[in-house]
Amino acid sequence: MDAEQDRVFFYNYSIVIGLSVVMIVIFIVLARYLGIDEDAIALKQSTRVSANTLPVGVVNVAGEATEAPESMLAAVAEETDAEPIDMGQRVYQGLCISCHSGLPGIPKLGDKAAWENRIAQGMALLYEHSIKGFISAGGTIAMPAKGGNPNLTDEEVKAAVDYMVANSQ
Ligand code: HEC
Repeated sequence: MDAEQDRVFFYNYSIVIGLSVVMIVIFIVLARYLGIDEDAIALKQSTRVSANTLPVGVVNVAGEATEAPESMLAAVAEETDAEPIDMGQRVYQGLCISCHSGLPGIPKLGDKAAWENRIAQGMALLYEHSIKGFISAGGTIAMPAKGGNPNLTDEEVKAAVDYMVANSQ
């Protein structure tokens, strides 16, 4: 290798080194911006842990003010931020669907004509008929009280009625 070749080699080699340095800098910057935010993940995990290990209650000692621990409130707030489960849909799919999805003589979910006159009676009456049971004049099959499950709360039955009405008009 003569001096000229050496010069060319060092010239090329320093370009390679220079480019590597530039790329390293770019990667560091990218990692900063795109990188996983470990603090956020740690926070989320610890919130989950506190949500899952919530104390079931707070002992009230007479004469002393009791406050719910802050972690408890924060965890509950975090939980309620989650997507709410549609109670009405859950009840409908768990029970009401067995009759209201196409049996003859029973208003079917989504059948606007079958629901029109019933909805026109007003929600209060629909709730009452669903909670206490109902059969129309000349009807052959009855709507059983709470769809036949007395363990359902009035709220759950009402939510199912809301869901059915909302999807049948
Ligand atoms: C065993 C079958 C059966 C089940 C289960 C059932 N229904 Fe019904 N439902 C009926 C029948 C039959 C009618 C129509 C009664 C009539 O008009 O004579 C009816 C009617 C209704 C009506 C219209 C009432 C009105 O005033 O016109 C509503 C609202 C209703 N059901 C809600 C529900 C809900 C909510 C559930 C679930 C919690 C449910 N049903 C479960 C059979 C059922």
